[in-house]
Order: sequence, then structure tokens, then C-alpha cells
Amino acid sequence: MTRVIPALIDRIYTLFLRLVVGHIGRGAVIEFPVKWNHPEKVWIGSGARVAAGTWLNCSSSPDDEFTLRIGADTYVGRNCHINAWKSVTIGSEVLVANNVYISDATHEFRDRRVSIKRQGERFSGPVEIKRGAWIGHCAAILPNTSVGINSVIGALSLVRRPIPDYCVAAGVPATVIREVAPTEEA
Ligand SMILES: CC(C)(COP(=O)(O)OP(=O)(O)OC[C@H]1O[C@@H](n2cnc3c(N)ncnc32)[C@H](O)[C@@H]1OP(=O)(O)O)[C@@H](O)C(=O)NCCC(=O)NCCS
Repeated sequence: MTRVIPALIDRIYTLFLRLVVGHIGRGAVIEFPVKWNHPEKVWIGSGARVAAGTWLNCSSSPDDEFTLRIGADTYVGRNCHINAWKSVTIGSEVLVANNVYISDATHEFRDRRVSIKRQGERFSGPVEIKRGAWIGHCAAILPNTSVGINSVIGALSLVRRPIPDYCVAAGVPATVIREVAPTEEA
């Protein structure tokens, strides 16, 4: 019973969200509560799951149909913060741990006479997390970066350069610590 009621609440919440979110694929589940800005800009693939406490913060940008894409069978953990002003793409079967920050935008901070809070925000470069990747707990993925196919980003790492396919990267800033060797044919 303790698991049935929250699961039911999540199903009802997801049903309601189908009215306002750009696209929610078959079998996808959005846990209650997720915080939204411009849910019409979000595309979520089939079988994906977005966990409770996450904030999907999109802009009203008129030029792109969707500013945030979450691929099929991808899991976005609890309390993540995703800013998608123009282009954040998370591929299919990606695993995003809890408390991860992903952003294609930044606050302005050029004018020293004005508080940063009042200077606004702007798109700063697209983010792409390719299929099968794993983003570790509390990692930060900054604008104008990508994470390669099946690559791993270590816990607490800061990604500010593209990370190639099939790599393990970690640290602040994240650097490649090793490659995942190709599997031998049977
Ligand atoms: C990245 C990770 C997968 C690497 O595991 P691994 O391949 O077994 O790597 P190792 O433990 O052998 O570490 C290799 C080197 O990378 C360093 N390293 C590993 N993870 C690191 C991290 N998150 N940040 C900084 N350095 C890290 C190690 O200190 C070690 O450095 P050294 O050779 O100088 O001693 C693992 O450390 C990690 O961060 N996992 C994420 C866990 C998580 O977030 N889980 C959430 C549940 S979904």
C-alpha cells in the first residue's frame, strides 16, 4: 500500500501533465511533484521517468518547438535542475542521478552597477547528453558541452568541455580518466 498510493498519484499527475507538456510518450512517468516553466517546450520519450523534486526550467523561446528533449527510457533523478533556454537534448536510456545540474543558459554579469539578479539570463550554448550515458550524483553539466554515447560522468564532477563517446570522466573540471574498452565479439 505504501508504494501503491504514490505510484497512483504519479500516474494521475502524468495524465494531467499530458494536457500541458509538449509531448509525453507512452509509458513515461513524471513523479509528483516536478516544477515546470514552459512545459509546452518539453519533449519526453516513451518509458522515460522524471523523479520528484526536479525542476524543468525552459524559456518561452519562439524559434524552437522544444527546448528540452528527454529520450525514451531515460531516467532523470530526484532534485535535478535543468535549464533549457534553447537546446538541451538528453538521449535515450540515459541515467541521470540525483541533484544533477544541466544548463544551456547563464546569468548575465557584465554590468557592475546592476545586481546579477536583475541582469537577466541568456542562452549560452547547447547541451547534448548522448544515448546510454550515466551522469553521477551532483554533477554539473554547463552550457556548450556534450557527453558521449555510453560515457560516465563521476559524482560531483563539473563538465565544461565535450566528453567523447565511451569514456569515464571525472573531476572539476571533468577530464577523461579512462576509455571503456570495446567488448570482444563472442
Ligand atoms: C566515475 C566512477 C564511475 C569511476 O569509477 P572507477 O572506474 O571504478 O574509477 P576508480 O575508482 O578506479 O578511480 C579512478 C581515478 O578517478 C578518480 N575518480 C573517480 N571518481 C571520481 C569522481 N567522481 N571525482 C573525481 N575523481 C574521481 C579516482 O580518485 C581515481 O584517481 P587516481 O587514479 O588518481 O587514484 C565513480 O567513481 C563515480 O563517481 N560513480 C558515480 C556514482 C554515483 O553518482 N552514483 C549515483 C547513483 S545513479
